[in-house]
Amino acid sequence: MHPKSKGLRGSIAVPGDKSISHRSVMFGAIAHGTTTVQHFLAGEDCLSTISCFRKLGVTIEQEGDRLQIIGKGIDGLREPSEVLDVGNSGTTIRLLLGILAGRPFHASLVGDSSIAKRPMTRVTRPLAAMGASIDGRNKGEFTPLSIRGGHLTGIEYKSPVASAQVKSSILFAGLQAEGETSVIEPSKTRDHTERMLQQFGGNVDIDGLSVKVTGGQQLKAVNIDVPGDVSSAAFFLVAAAITPNSELVLHNVGLNPTRTGILDVLEQMGADIKILPKKEDNAEPVGDIIIKTSALKGIEISGDLIPRLIDEIPVIALLATQANGTTVIKDAHELKVKETNRIDTVVNELTKLGAEIEATEDGMIIAGGSTLNGGHVDSHGDHRIGMMLAIASLICSGEVNLAESEAIAVSYPAFFEDLARVNVQ
Ligand code: S3P
Repeated sequence: MHPKSKGLRGSIAVPGDKSISHRSVMFGAIAHGTTTVQHFLAGEDCLSTISCFRKLGVTIEQEGDRLQIIGKGIDGLREPSEVLDVGNSGTTIRLLLGILAGRPFHASLVGDSSIAKRPMTRVTRPLAAMGASIDGRNKGEFTPLSIRGGHLTGIEYKSPVASAQVKSSILFAGLQAEGETSVIEPSKTRDHTERMLQQFGGNVDIDGLSVKVTGGQQLKAVNIDVPGDVSSAAFFLVAAAITPNSELVLHNVGLNPTRTGILDVLEQMGADIKILPKKEDNAEPVGDIIIKTSALKGIEISGDLIPRLIDEIPVIALLATQANGTTVIKDAHELKVKETNRIDTVVNELTKLGAEIEATEDGMIIAGGSTLNGGHVDSHGDHRIGMMLAIASLICSGEVNLAESEAIAVSYPAFFEDLARVNVQ
């Protein structure tokens, strides 16, 4: 990659939100009728979700970022004759397990080498407690997994981790269980499942950190318009803030408050950012964001803010290297079980470029005011590490060589094209 950008200028409409795109396929598949989706994220993770539901007998037509899903209700799902391959996608496997937990058939699930290291008992245990039979490597901890759905009974589940994947998986099972199912989270996580369930005509009771559904609800197909992914926008927000002579407009970005921790951090660090909320329809808030080159200061990031920006921490670490003063990130143990151990990969790769950054047990400490040089870095197959390093190269004095950059297609296939369009060389 070429050294030193002369500024990022112009506008970008980032691709559709990954979490919402997955859920649009899942709800469409279990609802009655034809669901249409616009601005679907056709990245590898969401394509894995489509492929799994096709193997479960659901007809899904895809043309670029448009989908048509022919739902026949949850009883319309069929025992798959092939293994369900979730690729790199934690959201696909964990939410799908919740759906399969109540289906009267067998399914086998596998993924790539990263998925094989990610903990699954956080969902398989509560789903088994509801009545599903699940087994897998190391007593059900890891893929390959096999599941035979059962007659489910509702539970009250106090989740030990703040995870929307855990919450959503149990809620999908709860929709098929006898009685009520509730999940109580330690901190609020993204609420796209709750919002989309209501869009599909379902009922959910939300009371603070507790979310409750009743089994046996019939869902009806709707038309979904997926907002731009704030997690993808984050790379361009940081790029503009740290690159001299920048001014970028990002259009139609999802502004769901359970996802906008990155915007709070930019504001707290003193970034020159304007958020222009547009519409609040019944589903997800959306708006435009304008950001310019900014003078930044280091801050502490911890507590309930962490789940609201968990996927943005790699790029926040880069942002912090360019601030005045130290930034401390705490309470982020969950980073260790993402697509890679993101504490280790962020610290190792940014260190190679010349950053002063130290790993801690639950986060990292980042010195501000670093000059980044360049060098050979590696995404380690983690899309968000790849994009963070590509953005870092914009301010490096020397050449950056990024290995395994193809991982970026997991969530943002057109990332390099979009970057090239706004990057002044
Ligand atoms: C997601 C939830 C988060 C997030 C992931 C997508 C979702 O994971 O990191 O990228 O769509 O529910 P956890 O639930 O494991 O925190």
